[in-house]
Amino acid sequence: MQKPFISIENLCKHYHSDERHFCALDNVNLSINQGDVLGIIGQSGAGKSTLIHCLNLLERPTSGKIIIDNEDITQFSDAKLRNFRHNIGMIFQNFALFQQRNILSNVMFPLELAKTPKEQAKKRAEELLEWVGLKDKAMRYPSQLSGGQQQRVAIARALANSPKIMLCDEATSALDSITTYSILNLLKKVNIELGVTMILITHSFSVAAQICNKVAVLDKGKIVETGDVSEVLTSPKSNAAQTLLSAAGNIITQAN
Ligand SMILES: Nc1ncnc2c1ncn2[C@@H]1O[C@H](COP(=O)(O)OP(=O)(O)OP(=O)(O)O)[C@@H](O)[C@H]1O
Ligand SMILES: [Mg+2]
Repeated sequence: MQKPFISIENLCKHYHSDERHFCALDNVNLSINQGDVLGIIGQSGAGKSTLIHCLNLLERPTSGKIIIDNEDITQFSDAKLRNFRHNIGMIFQNFALFQQRNILSNVMFPLELAKTPKEQAKKRAEELLEWVGLKDKAMRYPSQLSGGQQQRVAIARALANSPKIMLCDEATSALDSITTYSILNLLKKVNIELGVTMILITHSFSVAAQICNKVAVLDKGKIVETGDVSEVLTSPKSNAAQTLLSAAGNIITQAN
């Protein structure tokens, strides 16, 4: 059988503060194939962001392995890790753009870090801005753009070094439903046209249903259910998935 592209094995993350000890990730195991769009769903505090931060080692796991393309990245030296991070793009709920830089310069930033020659970086950033539909906004500043446009810039920036993996932490939570739809379509295009494997955190089953092929449900630091998105949506087995789904149903019923 083909090995998974990403394999998370017995991953634990403990936080210590003021002599208190908190287990944010409890023996997490997950397999992700190349080209998958995996949704990680769970309530607030379930450990979703902690998990995604461990995946590019923004947070150091307490124990366990993260094997990507047959290599355990938790064993990488700092230099190897810096290089490896070019393979991973990340986008956030609050867009995290540099306010003092214009849009073009935001997209050029990761290319500067990778020491790409300036002219080449500019050309690449311009192409990416065109690809996300913002060619005419290159000289604007983040504050002059709508939320949806800022997230498009963040996606262009995340793609600058042609990553194989994209991590999205609540990428559409700050957007209205029509803008959410258009950003999810853009992320779908990243997955299909560029072949980028995606791990997407969301509170929302409706976001997962629009874009993910697989989902994993996280509850109090544990994976309590995984499966194809259609399977988990139609017959959730865990209490956590059932609670999230019924909450989504209540919101829809109340809205009608
Ligand atoms: N640096 C830290 N020190 C101590 N506890 C932390 C730290 N970071 C996160 N936690 C705790 O770990 C748990 C998981 O946090 P995390 O941010 O991963 O949740 P989440 O699922 O992303 O929640 P949300 O949906 O609200 O973003 C929470 O209880 C949080 O308080
Ligand atoms: Mg979070």
